[in-house]
Amino acid sequence: YSVMSMGYADDGGARAHRPAAVRDIRSLVADPRRAPDVQVTLTARRERFRLASGRESDGYTLNGRSPGPEITAVRGQLVQVRLVNASVPGGVTLHWHGVDVPGAEDGVAGVTQDAVPPGGSYVYRFVARQAGTFWYHSHQLSHEQVAGGLLGALVVRPAAAPGPGADVVALTHLYDGVRTVNGSASDLRITGARARVRVINTDNGPMPVWVTGGVARLVAVDGTDLHGPGPIGRAAVLVTSGGRADLEVAVPAGGAARVQIGGPLSVVVAASAAVRPPPPAPRPPATLDLLAYGTPAPAPFDASRPDRVFRYAMGRRPGFLDGVPGLYWTVNGHLFPDVPMFVVAEGDLVRMTVVNDSGEVHPMHLHGHHALVLSRDGVPATGGPWWVDSLNVEDGESYELAFRADNPGVWVDHCHNLPHAVQGLMVHLMYE
Ligand code: C2O
Ligand code: CU
Repeated sequence: YSVMSMGYADDGGARAHRPAAVRDIRSLVADPRRAPDVQVTLTARRERFRLASGRESDGYTLNGRSPGPEITAVRGQLVQVRLVNASVPGGVTLHWHGVDVPGAEDGVAGVTQDAVPPGGSYVYRFVARQAGTFWYHSHQLSHEQVAGGLLGALVVRPAAAPGPGADVVALTHLYDGVRTVNGSASDLRITGARARVRVINTDNGPMPVWVTGGVARLVAVDGTDLHGPGPIGRAAVLVTSGGRADLEVAVPAGGAARVQIGGPLSVVVAASAAVRPPPPAPRPPATLDLLAYGTPAPAPFDASRPDRVFRYAMGRRPGFLDGVPGLYWTVNGHLFPDVPMFVVAEGDLVRMTVVNDSGEVHPMHLHGHHALVLSRDGVPATGGPWWVDSLNVEDGESYELAFRADNPGVWVDHCHNLPHAVQGLMVHLMYE
């Protein structure tokens, strides 16, 4: 499809005032003369491969494995990744999910770059400005390539010196219907009195995570720290498709805790290697409501005075997509690719209402920006600011969000249940 074939939004609000605080985007764009601090080559292949569990899967690898290598950086470092397509027939890109990279580095085939054909390569460079948990994945035929394993974790730590306790990634992915954590279908064991567990949900649906045998706090969502988070108790944390949840788990003296990822598969944190973890527990009935979790902190903008107001209403109706009749997703009543874009100017404060009347849940993912959740179904957020790049919107729900348009480019805002994105649940956000 072509970005050019799309019309302009008719619901773009008039600009009321010029906002003051604008992030300096040049800080994200890497000086071409600067040497990278983190340098990685990722070679993509379509092949049959062996998972950490020993099972074979037919899909995609990066450097011969899936998930691909975990990339780690320290805040402020320049990350340079060379993507080589060894044998992915449909072409491949890398998108840095949740990292507000400069537009040209966003890795969206057909929007920010062409897919890298077999035999080709592409170099991504960006400054890791925000510390947090992120991931990378192909954004070409992504409904197929992400499910097939063309993905990996990206962690940006605030400082080179390790904090107290273990700090681990728990990237969960379904390979051919089998749930895995970091590619393995058995528990991940950590020894220590406390651990930060960075859960990354790479699948198409929401993933509940719950903890038994220890005290857990949800310290970050979508790569952004929460303010003053307390213990989550017996509630499950629902990790949005594409989203991340960082849990800090403290283990009782001489004991162990179990962080369950959707079911029995767990990250076990144990005071010593000899300690037996508590048995897996059924999913708790309560889900942690992020709207009221944590303690309030002032927002960096006054969301009551937006420059632009957009509505992103998701529905469903019969129509044609690429000439094929079917029941397709709509945005504000329009079928892809005739969905009007959202047009902003650099510096605008944007307010967006996301409404889901489509009959299904949609995990909405905004590229290049993090949005502050203001309210859900009219109930205002009272917790410690909840910033998202991936938001689980249930059928019948509506959310009010606000974000600063401070990252010029052409961006997509789409459903991360990736087959839905292919079926048209996608809007472009463009700077005028
Ligand atoms: Cu993780 Cu546009 O995607
Ligand atoms: Cu969807």
